[in-house]
Amino acid sequence: MCGIVGYVGSQSALEIVMAGLKRLEYRGYDSAGVAVLADGGLAAAKKAGKFVNLEKELTERPLPTGTTGIGHTRWATHGGPTDANAHPHLDNAGRVAVVHNGIIENFACLRAELEERGHELGSETDTEVVAHLLAEEFSACADLAEAMRLVCRRLEGAFTLVAVHADEPDVVVGARRNSPLVVGVGEGEAFLASDVAAFIAHTRSAIELGQDQVVELRRDGVTVTGFDGRPADVRSYRIDWDAAAAEKGGYDYFMLKEIAEQPKAVADTLLGRIDAVGSLTLDEVRISASELREVDKVVIVACGTAFHAGLIAKYAIEHWTRIPCEVELASEFRYRDPILDQQTLVVAISQSGETMDTLMALRHAREQGARVLAICNTNGSTIPRESDAVLYTHAGPEVAVASTKAFLTQLVACYLVALYLGQVRGTKWGDEIHAVVRDLAKIGGEVERVLETMEPVRELARSLAHKNTVLFLGRHVGYPVALEGALKLKELAYMHAEGFAAGELKHGPIALIEDDLPVVVVVPSPRGRSVLHDKIVSNIQEIRARGARTIVIAEEGDEAVVPYADHLIRIPATPTLLQPLVATVPLQVFACELATARGNEVDQPRNLAKSVTVE
Ligand code: G6P
Repeated sequence: MCGIVGYVGSQSALEIVMAGLKRLEYRGYDSAGVAVLADGGLAAAKKAGKFVNLEKELTERPLPTGTTGIGHTRWATHGGPTDANAHPHLDNAGRVAVVHNGIIENFACLRAELEERGHELGSETDTEVVAHLLAEEFSACADLAEAMRLVCRRLEGAFTLVAVHADEPDVVVGARRNSPLVVGVGEGEAFLASDVAAFIAHTRSAIELGQDQVVELRRDGVTVTGFDGRPADVRSYRIDWDAAAAEKGGYDYFMLKEIAEQPKAVADTLLGRIDAVGSLTLDEVRISASELREVDKVVIVACGTAFHAGLIAKYAIEHWTRIPCEVELASEFRYRDPILDQQTLVVAISQSGETMDTLMALRHAREQGARVLAICNTNGSTIPRESDAVLYTHAGPEVAVASTKAFLTQLVACYLVALYLGQVRGTKWGDEIHAVVRDLAKIGGEVERVLETMEPVRELARSLAHKNTVLFLGRHVGYPVALEGALKLKELAYMHAEGFAAGELKHGPIALIEDDLPVVVVVPSPRGRSVLHDKIVSNIQEIRARGARTIVIAEEGDEAVVPYADHLIRIPATPTLLQPLVATVPLQVFACELATARGNEVDQPRNLAKSVTVE
């Protein structure tokens, strides 16, 4: 939540910071602001609402040109989305500017202290205290990095801070505890950002910051210390994401582009992980085969769409490895005293690698002695860094707030982990693993075929734009798919949408059925466990008899559903456990089109942020 950018170099800081903020707008769009150091002073502009409001403000009232600057795009926590609460926040003399992501939990007492000393604070934010504290410390030590270290030692909570001071015109200072912050190192210039997307157009050389570290950026180099001032060890890495991948590339929305990229994302996530004979080689999983053989329980923790990937993974893990698997919302996990030990493998799934609840869950798991494997899309992010092992999904940058391609690649990664466990533990024969791997290798092409047939789904979505409610039903792995379909609709179309296990229908949800209520049903393959198929066909009849308008997602060749489907969406035949990879796609398209038809912002749904970095 909240996007932060900092720059020092020889180019126009305003241009670089603004371009970076545009890339980070997915992190929050309640307000945006910038500050640049120029002509011995500090100039700032900030505006409530979307980034475009700030652009307009800068056209009407341009800032002077400078080569050091910071910027912020906000997802409001403390204080409403107003101009006054927008970042940057300045001290009373207007010499320090600071931007912040996170929550400073002890801000109220710090504020009271400052007010007692005569400071005037004009916003309702927790951030403003930092600008005032920095100004005080700087006046004593005349060193912004040192002032930042002193201030950070007094702060409680999770925070990323980036600051500039007019008296140190070629310096940007950042600090990090829990919330994300990455350093980019260029030729005679340096960058700070919540996400590499903000600076990949300028450099691919990055440095990961650890917890409780302060970084000082100058044109000629970067210095990192702990909050205690001791030099810190840092890890440099090369960013392999392509700058063009973070552009819309001719699509109206990032979401449309990301849906279209799914065949490639799926294929890329398999790449290099299967050897010539079809066995799995997951070298990045730095947990030894003997340790994996000891595992007696798998616990998956995740949030949002990643949680739905986990729910699907459970079916594969238990079926292929015979190890019990629990799936839990990361936000619930830590607070219920879960039973974990060295034989528990915790799998943390996260696109961003920064979701605070997932991070806290994995920390809790490690404290209890469990091994943690991260499934993550973002190199250098906190969750993989704090895990024992990581399997990266290779979806490329996902910008739209609602997750699509990351979800499909999370599923692929989960299947790989399940198969790998089966391989090292010997619960699957080699030829069985090869057969699944062959099916997985075909899935990218099947997703492509689904995408080619989506026009009727779009048409259907447009025709339902006036509805208030849509229900989703599924069984077995189709149940989490139904949950994901409903989540997408809530996120994007702001409609009441619920996903149910079809077997639960008669225990309550059937009472919701009324005339012409759209109900999407995800039908399992008739070739798999056909008892499931038969039961869901009965469910379709039951709801249709009560007036529901049935929208049936069924595999090609499944004729049994035809008489009961008011709308039939065909998906290619796949093995039962892999069906979510194709069945989810029409639901993504459906939600995206409904949102468009209702005039909603597809990439930036109201009240949401892509990366939830506060609990
Ligand atoms: C937010 C996003 C969702 C995402 C969830 C988990 O709620 O809007 O799309 O699924 O966070 O994010 P993560 O980065 O941990 O996968």
